[in-house]
Amino acid sequence: MRPVKIAGLGAYVPPGVITNDDLSKMVDTTDEWILQRTGIRERHKVAPGEATSDIAKPAALAAIAEAGLTPKDIDFIVFGTTTPDTIFPSTACVLQAKIGATNAWGFDLGAACSGFVYALTTAWKMVASGASDHALVVGADVMSSIIDYTDRSTCVLFGDGAGAVVLSVAGPDEPCLIDFANEIDGHGGDALCMPAGGSKLPATHETVDKKLHYMRQDGAAVFKFAVRQSGEIATRVLTKNGLTGADLDLFVSHQANRRIIEATAERIGLPMDKVIINLEYYGNTTAATIPLALMDARKDGRLKKGDLVLLTSVGAGFTVGSVLLRWSL
Ligand SMILES: CC(C)(COP(=O)(O)OP(=O)(O)OC[C@H]1O[C@@H](n2cnc3c(N)ncnc32)[C@H](O)[C@@H]1OP(=O)(O)O)[C@@H](O)C(=O)NCCC(=O)NCCS
Repeated sequence: MRPVKIAGLGAYVPPGVITNDDLSKMVDTTDEWILQRTGIRERHKVAPGEATSDIAKPAALAAIAEAGLTPKDIDFIVFGTTTPDTIFPSTACVLQAKIGATNAWGFDLGAACSGFVYALTTAWKMVASGASDHALVVGADVMSSIIDYTDRSTCVLFGDGAGAVVLSVAGPDEPCLIDFANEIDGHGGDALCMPAGGSKLPATHETVDKKLHYMRQDGAAVFKFAVRQSGEIATRVLTKNGLTGADLDLFVSHQANRRIIEATAERIGLPMDKVIINLEYYGNTTAATIPLALMDARKDGRLKKGDLVLLTSVGAGFTVGSVLLRWSL
C-alpha cells in the first residue's frame, strides 16, 4: 500500500447568514437558548436556486489548486452528501462536469454527518492501492433544503457549507494518513432521518402535506449516542496506535453541538486548547463540518505541517467514524 497525504484543502460557505435573532422571529426560540444548548450563533444559507454542487465547486477548485494540480489531473471523486442536487444523476457527476474533471470517475457517498470521514477513508484506500493517483474528496450539504423552518427543535441546528481535500501519494518522509475506524449501527435509523422522498415513501401530495420531506430528529437520543460513540471511536483509534489524547496536537470533531465535542474531549483526556470548535459561525453543515474546521484551524495557526490530528464524526444511520493523520500542508 502506498502512503497517502492530504495535498490540498478548500472550503466555501455561501454569503447569506441567518442569525439566532433571525430565527427567533420565525419560531419560538431565543439567541440565549440556542447559544447555551448548542454553541451556535449563526449559520449560512444558499441563495434560491443554489444547489450542493454549486457550493462544492469553489471548495473543490481551491483544494485542487493548492495541490498544484488542474481538474484534469483528478482521476476519482467521492462526494459525501445528504442533500445531493438530485437523487440521480449523482452530485459527483454534476461536479465533475462543472469543474472539468474529465478524467475522473466517481460517486456520491451517503453517510450523513460522517460523509466526509467516510469519503476520506474510501479515497485514501483507492490512492493507497494504486487505483487512483489524485482523488478529490468532497463533503458538502445544503441542509436548508431539507429543514422545516417552523420546527424550532431542528431549524436552529443546521447550516449550508462545503469542503474538499485532494489526496495524493506521499513521499517517504512526508506526513500522511495513519489509521481509521468506521462503524455503523442501523438500529438508530429512526432517531434522525428524512421520512419520505425515497423508494419507501415516494413523494405524494400527502407526504408533502405531512412535511415528510424535511429532516426529523429525536435530539436527546442522538445526543446520547453521539457523546458515547464519539468518545469510544476516538479512544479505539488512539489505543490501537499506542497513543493517548495527550499525544494529539489537534482534535477535529464533527461540529454538531459544543457540548458533544467538550464531552468527547474530556473522555479522551484532551484540554480544550487542542480542540477546534467553529460551529458558532456555521451550525451543523453535515458533511462539510470537518473540512471547514480544518480550514479555520489552519487560518488561526492552530494546524501546522506535521501535527498529529484526530478526526471523528457521528451521523444519522447511525454512522461513526474516525481518522488519525499527520497534517501534510
Ligand atoms: C437538539 C438539542 C440541542 C436539544 O437540547 P436539549 O438540551 O437536549 O433540549 P431538549 O431536547 O431536552 O429540549 C428541552 C426543551 O427545549 C425546547 N426546545 C427545543 N428546541 C428549542 C429551541 N430552538 N428554542 C427553545 N426551546 C427549544 C424543547 O421543546 C423542550 O421543551 P419541553 O421541556 O417543554 O418539552 C440536543 O438534544 C442536541 O444537540 N442533540 C443532538 C443533535 C445533533 O447533534 N444532531 C446531529 C447529529 S449528527
